[in-house]
Formats: sequence, structure tokens, C-alpha cells
Amino acid sequence: MELDLTGRTAVVTGGTRGIGRAISLGFADAGADVVPLSRTESDVEAVAEAVRERGVESRIETLDVADREAVASTFDRIADDLGVDVVVNNAGINPEDALGTPEAVSDEGYDQVLDVNLGGAFACARAAESSLKESGGTLLNVASVGGLVGLPRQHPYVASKHGLVGLTKSLALDWAPDVRVNCLAPGYVATELTTDLRENEELRRSIEERTPLDRFADPDEVAGPAVFLASDLASYATGATLAVDGGWTAR
Ligand SMILES: NC(=O)c1ccc[n+]([C@@H]2O[C@H](COP(=O)([O-])OP(=O)(O)OC[C@H]3O[C@@H](n4cnc5c(N)ncnc54)[C@H](OP(=O)(O)O)[C@@H]3O)[C@@H](O)[C@H]2O)c1
Repeated sequence: MELDLTGRTAVVTGGTRGIGRAISLGFADAGADVVPLSRTESDVEAVAEAVRERGVESRIETLDVADREAVASTFDRIADDLGVDVVVNNAGINPEDALGTPEAVSDEGYDQVLDVNLGGAFACARAAESSLKESGGTLLNVASVGGLVGLPRQHPYVASKHGLVGLTKSLALDWAPDVRVNCLAPGYVATELTTDLRENEELRRSIEERTPLDRFADPDEVAGPAVFLASDLASYATGATLAVDGGWTAR
């Protein structure tokens, strides 16, 4: 059995930076055509170019996953053009106005986090449903350790990520045996999302010390398990959440 995704098309939301960029390029390295989606056209163009340099197809599509109509029309276009075999719901945010005590969280911050992290994933799953069933494809949600355990001061984020773990299970049941649905729960990864944490020496050390592997992950270390779960090597895995967290949740 090989880890070969040649002939399949992977759509990766938030596929232009950090973990999503690494996943996009990881899929391209495994032979898949890749459509990276985000709101920033120049970033989409750059990743699409890097995908094509690996000898596979790409398309330039911008998408805000919180825009339900745009989600539906974008997935329709990609399905008509390249087909959709793999969807990675990776787009996620954790903005300042959604952090802190419940009292400190604004309604806008709460709604935005739930709309993007959970609502966006659901909308993309719905938009890709018929294509994935037709192709016998697979869907992957990118949650977080915050989908498995509580994290203080990150209530909307943790609620959205626990929601993604649950959504993974309910979709896996509904779509079996045609479509496999799994989830990744990364620990702390060195991306823009964690820049503030990493730049605060005290906070950085406390996170590293709390992590058995004693460091932040490189985005490529999340991309590997993503490619694996989407491949035939994981053909009996569905409804599962794989922690890729340096041992964080083993404590
Ligand atoms: N970094 C970590 O330590 C860590 C740990 C656990 C889980 N995660 C999860 O992993 C995923 C990726 O995180 P990351 O650290 O790689 O984040 P990142 O570096 O901030 O990148 C986020 C990506 O999502 C896109 N995005 C944001 N809002 C979007 C929207 N409304 N519609 C479409 N795309 C959107 C961004 O592009 P635009 O802004 O241009 O749209 C960008 O491509 C997230 O779901 C995050 O919760 C991260």
C-alpha cells in the first residue's frame, strides 16, 4: 500500500499560511492536485504556484468560509472543474476579542470564532457532500488540543474545536461507508496564530515545559498526519480524532 494521492483533488481551507500551507504542499508532494483557499488572493496565488512547481494542478480561488453562499458556489466551481476528493477544513481563528474571561469576550468575537471555525467547516462539508460521495472521498477537520481538553481564557475557540470533534463523529456516521471523516488535534504549532505566545518568553517556556516533547511543532509535522489520514493507508479510520500534540493530552 502506498501513500500516493495521484489523480485526487484536495481542497484546503485556510490553505495559504501556517498549517494549511504545509498541508497544501504535503498533498501536492503526495501527487494530489490542490486548491488552497483563503481570503487573500496574493497568498492563494503564491501557494498555487508552489503547488504547480510540484508538477500537479491548482486553481486560484479566494473564499471566506463564513460566507455561506460563496462556500457553495466555490465548491461547485471546483467540483465542475477538477472534482473534489479530499476536503481539509483547516481555516481557523482565535482573535483578541474572543480571549479572556467570558465577561471580556465580545458578542462579535464569539460569533466570528464560531462562524469561521465551526460554521465554516460545516458549510464546506455540506457544499462538498455530493462530490465526496461520488468520488468516495474523505474529509478532514483540523481541530486542536482545545477540542479535547479545556484551555483557560479561550472559551469560544475551545467551544468551536470541541464542536469540530463532534461534527467529525456525526458526519462519519452519516456518510459511512462512502466517505471517511476524521479530525486532527494539533498542539502548539509555530505559525502566525501563535506569534504572540512565542514572542512572550515566559509564556513560550511554560507551553514548552507543559509539552512532553518540549517544543512547538513545525507545520510540516501536522501535514504528515493529514496526508496519512486522507490516504488509503488510513482506509479503516473514520470518526477518529488524532492528537498531534507532542504529548500535551497524554498528561
Ligand atoms: N498554530 C497552532 O498552534 C494551532 C494549534 C492547534 C490547532 N490549530 C488550528 O489549525 C488551523 C490553522 O492554524 P494556523 O496556526 O496555521 O493559522 P494561521 O497561520 O493564522 O493561518 C490561518 C489560515 O486560515 C485562513 N483564514 C482565516 N480566516 C479565514 C476565513 N474566514 N475564510 C477562509 N480562510 C481563512 C488564513 O488566510 P486569510 O487570513 O488570508 O483568509 C490562513 O490561510 C486553525 O484551524 C487553528 O485553529 C492551530
